[in-house]
Amino acid sequence: MPPVATSEKGSEPSLPQATFRFRCIGCAAVNSTAGQDFRCPQCGNLLEITDSSWNSHNPAALKSLWRERRTLNAALDLSGVWRFRELLPAPASEQQVVTLREGNTPLYDLPQSSRSTGVAQLYGKHQGLNPTGSFKDTGMTVAATFARQAGYRWVACASTGNTSASMAAYAARGGMRSLVLVPEGKISWSKLSQALDCGALTCQLRTDFDGCLGLLQQLVRRAPVYQLNSINPFRLEGQKTLAFELMEQLEWQPPDHIIVPGGNLGNCSAIGKALLEMLEVGLIPRLPKLSVIQAEGANALVRTLREAGGKRLVSVQAETRATAIRIGNPASWEKAVKVLQATGGACEQVSEVEIAQAKAEIGAEGIGCEPASAVTLAGLRKLLHQDFVKPEETVVLVLTGSLLKDPDFTMEFHRGDLFQSSIDEKEGAKLNEFRHPPVVLDATLDAVIKTLEQAEKSDPNHSNA
Ligand code: F0G
Repeated sequence: MPPVATSEKGSEPSLPQATFRFRCIGCAAVNSTAGQDFRCPQCGNLLEITDSSWNSHNPAALKSLWRERRTLNAALDLSGVWRFRELLPAPASEQQVVTLREGNTPLYDLPQSSRSTGVAQLYGKHQGLNPTGSFKDTGMTVAATFARQAGYRWVACASTGNTSASMAAYAARGGMRSLVLVPEGKISWSKLSQALDCGALTCQLRTDFDGCLGLLQQLVRRAPVYQLNSINPFRLEGQKTLAFELMEQLEWQPPDHIIVPGGNLGNCSAIGKALLEMLEVGLIPRLPKLSVIQAEGANALVRTLREAGGKRLVSVQAETRATAIRIGNPASWEKAVKVLQATGGACEQVSEVEIAQAKAEIGAEGIGCEPASAVTLAGLRKLLHQDFVKPEETVVLVLTGSLLKDPDFTMEFHRGDLFQSSIDEKEGAKLNEFRHPPVVLDATLDAVIKTLEQAEKSDPNHSNA
């Protein structure tokens, strides 16, 4: 049964009435139901969710209601997603909601990166501190809720790892079974192990992410499985809350720039949608520029904008060690083009060496992140160089995943094995500044003290502020 936008009238006073509809991003046709593939029955383009009730809210009342909920103990209020339910599609009843208390993630200042980039007001919104370690949880709570409400037994996704980890967890919590399609050998063990532990039926397919997603599109037409990729517009609704929460943390004063990694391009689309909706409701006075950064080896959006003016997708054969964004045929490219244009953001690409260095720098801030998240700091450097970002502006980097998501990358980097002979000497020397390989010693006090003294000598100016 496809998801239906209805609610049991009056049964749940704590939830708004469900009045949302599905709107095609291409021909703007509006429908109250969506098919299994979440595509427009008229023109085949992707759907987004719209709700006429969202505009009727008083912004000051919303701000105080959302803040007050942080002090309450109901599951819906403890979730950093459902706390913002006035601007989300409403489920029929609270009992349908599948939540792991996602969202409510910290906004960190980044003092060392501030100094090295010259951007005094530089922040990291760390979505890696979600229950399964990535931003996917904010979208999954909403999409899993609607899957359960529609009565599905099976949910499914294609994934570079984080979506599958998140989906497996939310399916398990919601009493549903999950089917994971991942590219064999191209996702981190850490993410794969999460899916296994949460009981997903996990298929490692001999293809890449794009091949997995293509297969899933065929599967949903043949089997009664509900797709939880970001093609599913409920996912993007939940991911909007990153932007709501960020603005709340900044006292509703928008930053000048938000910088986000781009893979399948659902997340930037969700953040952009949230910004436009907040402007319309009157929650913020102006739009930040939303910029998307990709790995050079997985730069479909960069090429789509540069070579085709954003009018048609330029697909690529993706290759990058930032496996979360190893995607060559991004599903939400048109949504991404629209939000970049609406907010006046930029789209850039960064090299593997730049990603590795930026990841180590974020690690040195004491927070860490996974490689895909680090493209944001590397991209900021490029945007500063191009004068697109000015040092006096306020910048927020969206750190999408936890440091613990890709331990192999981190270990290889610190041991010096990540690039082997594929980089030049100058680049290698730069990276060495950030490496902290483990030291194997005899178990004597002398050996440890000597090592400590050497470490102090080699970095006497290390700042503790
Ligand atoms: N950062 C991380 C850590 C991710 O896992 C992803 C996407 C992205 C950024 C890019 O976000 O696709 O919305 O543009 N990971 C997906 C997955 C594709 O299957 O886990 P996007």
